[in-house]
This record gives sequence, structure tokens and C-alpha cells, in this order.
Amino acid sequence: MSHKIAPSLLAADFGNLQRDIEMVNQSSADWFHLDIMDGVFVPNISYGMPVMEAIQKHANLPLDVHLMIVEPDKYISIFKNLGAKVLTVHYEVCKHLHRTIYAIKEEGMLAGVALNPHTPVSVLKDVINDIDLVLIMSVNPGFGGQKFISNTIKKVQEAREMIANSGSRALIEVDGGVGLQNYVDLVKSGADVLVAGSSVFSAPNPIEAIKKLKTL
Ligand code: DX5
Ligand code: ZN
Repeated sequence: MSHKIAPSLLAADFGNLQRDIEMVNQSSADWFHLDIMDGVFVPNISYGMPVMEAIQKHANLPLDVHLMIVEPDKYISIFKNLGAKVLTVHYEVCKHLHRTIYAIKEEGMLAGVALNPHTPVSVLKDVINDIDLVLIMSVNPGFGGQKFISNTIKKVQEAREMIANSGSRALIEVDGGVGLQNYVDLVKSGADVLVAGSSVFSAPNPIEAIKKLKTL
């Protein structure tokens, strides 16, 4: 299976959101990555339900929703209704992670769990067969345009090994500071989905940038 590219709309021009969504629709991207931040779990607030409703109207690719919020359980069915195909919650905010994973799956979405840079992959050992996606944060969540944390490569390899040993079919997604300088290493280490914000939307030609990130 070739790897997927999920452009993060956090780096789009919000004054021209429809234009930027249509650019992604026409590109070789696979998913839209949507970052929902609450100003509590992370020190930033991005956008919420009304904006996601507008995104859903124009987006032609699956919506990969990354919740950087506390108490995500309260919003699972809301995000389902807003068109989320993949719903990812942070390990660090879920007291009853197994319950949250099944609540997402019961809504018919793919369930993802995200790990902050300081959270080891091993914490997912007992749910790896229950989840559809492991999101490895390669920056501290909250902002686009940050520097890639190189320890991520080792974590991707560990996740790949855990998945192989358990027979899980979970995808490995990497988010933060991903671009032409590191995408090959990430895919070779076992990443299936690469989120790319600034490296796509700040490129002179974003369609070309997405195409390059798809090329091995
Ligand atoms: C950061 C978000 C990322 C962000 C990535 O908290 O989860 O998805 O948009 O942006 P870049 O690719 O610019 O690091
Ligand atoms: Zn994200």
C-alpha cells in the first residue's frame, strides 16, 4: 500500500478556504486533516463546528479529524454528523480510552489515538488491536510550522513493530513538521499517513508539493 498524504487545513488561507479546499480536491492528496483545538489541552484555539460544516460542503476526500481537546467523548456524535471519517483523540486526555475508542467505532468512524512527543508508543499495547490509527505527534500539538522532533523516527519504528507483532491493522500517521526533508525516512520507518500543513500551503505550488510528498 502506498502512503497517504493528508494536508492540514490549519495552514490554509482561511479567507480563501473554499479555494484551498478545491486545490486539495484536485491534488493527489488522500485525506483532509482537520485540527480541532480547545485552548485547554493545547495553548491555542483553531476552529470548530461551523467551520467544519463549511469544510464538509466542499471537501471531496475523507475528513481525518484530530481532536486536541479535553473530554472528547462529549463530541463524538457531533463530529460524525459533521462528516468525520477518522476521529482521533489524544491518549493524554482519555481516562477510559477503551470506552472512547468503542464509542467512536460505534458511530461508524475509524478510531485513532494520538500520542504527544513525550508519550511512549508502549502505552497503546493493550488497545492496538482495537484501533484503526496511531497518530504519532512529531511536534508538541497546538501550532503549525514547528520543527520536526527527530525521535519520532524511532517511535514510528516501534509502532510498526508493535502492529506487526500483534496482528493489528492500525495505520501509523505522523503529524508535525513533515516535508520533503523527512518524508522518505518516515515512510521507510513504517508511516502510512503523513500530515503536511506548512510544507504544502507555503509551497510556491501546493499541488506539486503534494505530488512530491507522494513520490518515493
Ligand atoms: C499541530 C497539528 C498539525 C499541524 C501540522 O498541533 O496537529 O496537524 O497543522 O502543521 P505543520 O505541517 O505545519 O507542522
Ligand atoms: Zn493534526
